[in-house]
Amino acid sequence: MDLRLEKQHAVIVGGARGIGWAIAEEFAQEGADVTIVDLSPQVSERASELAASARDEGQRWRGFQADVTQPSQVEAVFEQLRLDQPPQHVVIAAGIGSGKFGFPFTNLSPSDWPKVVDVNLMGTVNVAHAVAGDLRACGDGSLTLISSVAGQIGSQTDPPYSAAKAAVINFGQCMAKDLAAYGVRVNTICPGMIKTELNESVWKAWHDAQAPEDRLDYETWAGSKVRSVVPLQRWQTPQDIAALAVFLASPRGRNITGQTMNVDGGFVMHW
Ligand SMILES: NC(=O)c1ccc[n+]([C@@H]2O[C@H](COP(=O)([O-])OP(=O)(O)OC[C@H]3O[C@@H](n4cnc5c(N)ncnc54)[C@H](O)[C@@H]3O)[C@@H](O)[C@H]2O)c1
Repeated sequence: MDLRLEKQHAVIVGGARGIGWAIAEEFAQEGADVTIVDLSPQVSERASELAASARDEGQRWRGFQADVTQPSQVEAVFEQLRLDQPPQHVVIAAGIGSGKFGFPFTNLSPSDWPKVVDVNLMGTVNVAHAVAGDLRACGDGSLTLISSVAGQIGSQTDPPYSAAKAAVINFGQCMAKDLAAYGVRVNTICPGMIKTELNESVWKAWHDAQAPEDRLDYETWAGSKVRSVVPLQRWQTPQDIAALAVFLASPRGRNITGQTMNVDGGFVMHW
């Protein structure tokens, strides 16, 4: 299927690794120009590696280091882009977990919350404010948020993460209503269980909370968890999320906005 994204400009925030990186690669494969914004100091190198995924000649890659929790850093990136090539599609994939096992929630202290909320929720808010004007001006842009199934189920592994991701879903709906009048579509993807550094930090804390005598090695334990809670009985992959992200940005998704979509092997089913 031709997604007709060639020569479009996609910005992937949190795109230096994991799910964001797969999304950046997928946009590159669809012929888009891609900018990665990330906390990682390797962001420029990572952006140049996108050349390996290029579909057409002359596609452009850029990398900017910025912390999504710092509005001035985020605004500075988009100010620079505005002068050169304003974005048409923005995906916000930057996220962190607390790194602790939060069941019961009193295992955490209130001081474990602000950083998680700052990156996952306020990071999304900061980027949204910085790009809203560009997306309005372009008329048929898209903004895709990466939340989590944890934002829909009150996940017991990491309550601040879960609560911040629920807020991301809600903010996405607010923005979808605001920006629809300008032809801008806003959707939220909720990944299920994907082997990335973030997933491992959350799950390792959970694994390590098992009594030592019952503890399997991490890979065996994590694999059996996935088989027992995911109806399709398998991990999801970064590419599964990327496939939906490019579809939502493309004109093929032109009538989809304000939606929360799970790519989770059936883990969350509403009825
Ligand atoms: N892996 C999973 O199982 C899973 C499941 C559900 C949702 N998610 C969500 O998917 C998104 C991507 O997660 P991932 O698993 O690829 O994680 P990851 O840790 O592999 O990648 C996260 C990226 O975000 C960047 N980042 C972190 N803090 C940042 C900040 N303050 N400013 C700018 N960039 C920052 C990191 O440098 C990294 O490149 C996150 O929003 C995460 O919550 C992941």
